[in-house]
Amino acid sequence: MMNKISEIVKHGLLLIGSLTFSSTMAQNYEAKVDSLMKRMTLQEKIGQTVMYSGSWDQTGPIVGSNNGKYIREGNMGGMLNAFTVRGTHDLQKIAVEETRLGIPLLFGYDVIHGHRTIFPINLGLSASWDLKMVEESARIAAEEASAEGIHWTFAPMVDVSREPRWGRISEGAGEDVYLGSQIAKAYVKGFQGDDLSKPNTILACAKHFAAYGAPQAGRDYHTVNMGEGELRDVYLPPFKAAVEAGVETFMTAFNEINGVPATANKFIFKDILRKEWGFNGFVVTDYTAINELVPHGFAKDEKHAAQLALEAGVDMDMMSGANRLYLEELVKENKIDEGLINQACKRILLAKFKLGLFDDPYRYIDEEREKTTKYKPDFLDKARAIAAASSVMLQNNNHALPISKNTKKIAFIGPLVKDEYDIIGNWAAKGDRNGKAVSVFEGISEYLTSNQILYAKGCEILKEDNSGFKEAINVSKAANEIVLVMGEGHHMSGEAASRTNLKIPGIQPELIKQIRQANPNKKITLVLMNGRPLNLSEEVGLVDAILEVWFPGTMGGAAVADLLFGEVNPSGKLTVTFPRNVGQVPIYYNMKNTGRPIPESNPKEDYKSNYIDVSNSPLFPFGHGLSYTNFNYSDFKLSSDTLTFSGEIEASVTITNTGKMDGHEIVQLYLHDKVGSVTRPVKELKGFQKIFLKQGESKTVRFTITAQDLKFYNNQMLFDVEPGEFEIVIAPSSNFKFQHKFNLVD
Ligand code: BGC
Repeated sequence: MMNKISEIVKHGLLLIGSLTFSSTMAQNYEAKVDSLMKRMTLQEKIGQTVMYSGSWDQTGPIVGSNNGKYIREGNMGGMLNAFTVRGTHDLQKIAVEETRLGIPLLFGYDVIHGHRTIFPINLGLSASWDLKMVEESARIAAEEASAEGIHWTFAPMVDVSREPRWGRISEGAGEDVYLGSQIAKAYVKGFQGDDLSKPNTILACAKHFAAYGAPQAGRDYHTVNMGEGELRDVYLPPFKAAVEAGVETFMTAFNEINGVPATANKFIFKDILRKEWGFNGFVVTDYTAINELVPHGFAKDEKHAAQLALEAGVDMDMMSGANRLYLEELVKENKIDEGLINQACKRILLAKFKLGLFDDPYRYIDEEREKTTKYKPDFLDKARAIAAASSVMLQNNNHALPISKNTKKIAFIGPLVKDEYDIIGNWAAKGDRNGKAVSVFEGISEYLTSNQILYAKGCEILKEDNSGFKEAINVSKAANEIVLVMGEGHHMSGEAASRTNLKIPGIQPELIKQIRQANPNKKITLVLMNGRPLNLSEEVGLVDAILEVWFPGTMGGAAVADLLFGEVNPSGKLTVTFPRNVGQVPIYYNMKNTGRPIPESNPKEDYKSNYIDVSNSPLFPFGHGLSYTNFNYSDFKLSSDTLTFSGEIEASVTITNTGKMDGHEIVQLYLHDKVGSVTRPVKELKGFQKIFLKQGESKTVRFTITAQDLKFYNNQMLFDVEPGEFEIVIAPSSNFKFQHKFNLVD
C-alpha cells in the first residue's frame, strides 16, 4: 500500500497533510484532481461514479453485485452499507493496492439518528427545537460512524412533510420550513464539523431532492404535483439552508415532480441547485433510482435512463448499475457529452481529497478508535438528555404527571413497557436492538423499588389476541396509578411504511378503553412511541396524561422515567400537527385562509370552508407542548410599527415562570402577511428561542425582524418582499390570535 501512495505522491497527485479547508486548498485539490484525471481512462472515470452496496446492511432491494471484481477493475468509486474497520480495510486495500491508480473508495451509510448510540428519531429530535442538541447528536453519530470506517452519511433528510400517512415523516424535522431549515444546518455542521480532513468528520448528504415529503395519498414514492411557488416557498428552503451550511453532497428523490422524476430533473438540479444556489459538491441518486426512470415512464430503457440522469446533473449512481453498463457506450455513440462524466468524476474525487483519503486512504481505519468510541458514557448521557428534551407532553389533566416516587403501586402496562427492540426506531443504523437500549421498565426501576412496580404486557402491538387483557386489567386494578406504554412498532414508519389508518395500532386502543372502564377514577398516563402524528381523538378522553416520546433511542427508557417522575421537566413541542382523524390530512398550521374561512362569531355558518362531521382545528397543533410549570407571556413590545426595506424592528415579550418548577420554554414568533400578490399563509413561523427559566424568574425575549424575513416567491418566481400590513405575535404555540401589527414601507 505504501508503495502505491508514494507513487501517487511522486506523480505530484498528493501533496498535502491535514490542513483546514480553504479556497486556496480547494484550488489545490482541483489541480490535483485535474492532474489525476489526466491519467484516468474513460472507464476509470465512469467507475468513480458507481456505487454498490456491501453486505453489512440492506437498505433496498438486493441487486446482484460483484463488489470485489468491480473494485479491482476500477469500476466502483463508492460503497454503501460497508463499514467496520476490518471490512472497510479489506475493501480499501483492494482499491488502493490492486487497481491501476489506487484511488480510494468512499464508504457511505445511513447514519440517520445515531450510529451505535441512537438518539430519538429525527421527528422527535426536531421537537426539542434545540439546535445545539441536534448538532451534538450528529457530531456523536459522526464520531461513532467514522470510527468504523464510514466517510459519508446519507443524512440529513430535510424533506418538509405535512403528510402523517407517509412513513418517512419520522425521518424529517416536521412540517415547517423555517424550523426545518435551521435544523438542516445544525445536522450538516454536526456531521461535517469544521474540517473534513479530520478522521472524525464525515460528508453529509441533503436528501431527498426534492419534494419527496409530499407524495400523493401519503403513499411512499408516489407522484408529486405542485406549483413552483409552493415548491420554492415550502419544500426547497431546507435544502438551500443545507447548501449554505456547506453540505458536500445531495441525494435525488424517488418521486416525480410535475411529471419529471427528480432523478432526471434538470430544473431542480441544474437550474436551481447548481445555478441558483451555487452548489459544487456531488449528487448521488437514491437507491436504484436511475433504473426506476423506466417504470416511471420517463426513460425507454436503462441505457436511456443513464443518459437522462447524467444530463440532469447526477454524479453518482447508487445501485442501479446503469452508469457502469452504459455510459461508455453512450459516449462512443456520441449520445452524451464526455465532459459530463469528467465533471461528475471530478466532483467525487474532490470529495475524497477533502476527506484526506488521498493523503491516507486508511485514515478512518483505526482498530483502537473503533473499540473505544462506541457507546461512550458521555454519548449515552447526551442521548438521555436529548431523548427527554425531544419528548412532548401533549396532555396533563389533573396534574397526573409527574408521578410521585412514593406512590404505593404503579401498574405499567403495554407491549412497549419492556421493549428494547422498537424503542430505537426505524433507520437506526447499527443501534443494538438486543439488549443495549434501556427499556421503560429498566428506566423506572431506577426510581421505584420492585414492590412498587406491577407489570402486564396486555397485548402485542399488532396481533389481535386479547388473551392478555384479563391480567392487564387485574394489574391495573391492584395499582394506585397506571402508566400505559404503547404505540407503533418501529417498522411501521420509515421507508415504504405508509399507513392509511393513523390510530394506535392493533387492539391497544381497546385495552386502553377496558382499563379506563375498570378504573374510572384512577390517574392514567399514556406514554406513546410512534414515528408519525397519530389520531388520538378517543384516547384524549380516556387517559389523563399523554407523553409523546417518539422512538426515543438507546437511552429512551431512562429519559421516559426522568420525565415521568419529574426529574426532568418536559419541554418538547410538536413540529408537526396531530389531526383529529385521517380525513383532515393534510392539515398543518400555516394553511391558507380560503375565500370562505369559518367566521369566529359563527363557527357553524353554512357555505364555509369546513367539514360537517369534524372541526377544522387539529387535535394538537404545531408548536404545542406542555410543561410541569407555567409560563406567562406579557408586555409584548414592538420597537416601531413601521419597518422599512432596509431597516429592522424588534419584537419582544417578557416571559415569567409562574409555576413550581424550573423549566425550558420554546418561544415562537409568527407573522402574517395580510395581502400579497400571491396569497400568504394565515401564519408563518419566523423565529424561535428556547430559554430556561427558574421558578419565579422572568426574561425578556427579543426578535429582530427585517424585510428579508418577509420575502416569498411571487408569480414571476422572484423571491421578493411586498409592502403592506403584517400581523405579529410571540406565542407558546401556533394556537393563538394575532394582536399586533406593523407596516412594511418602501
Ligand atoms: C433511501 C435513502 C437511503 C438509501 C441508501 C433508499 O432506499 O430512500 O434515504 O439513503 O436507500 O440506503
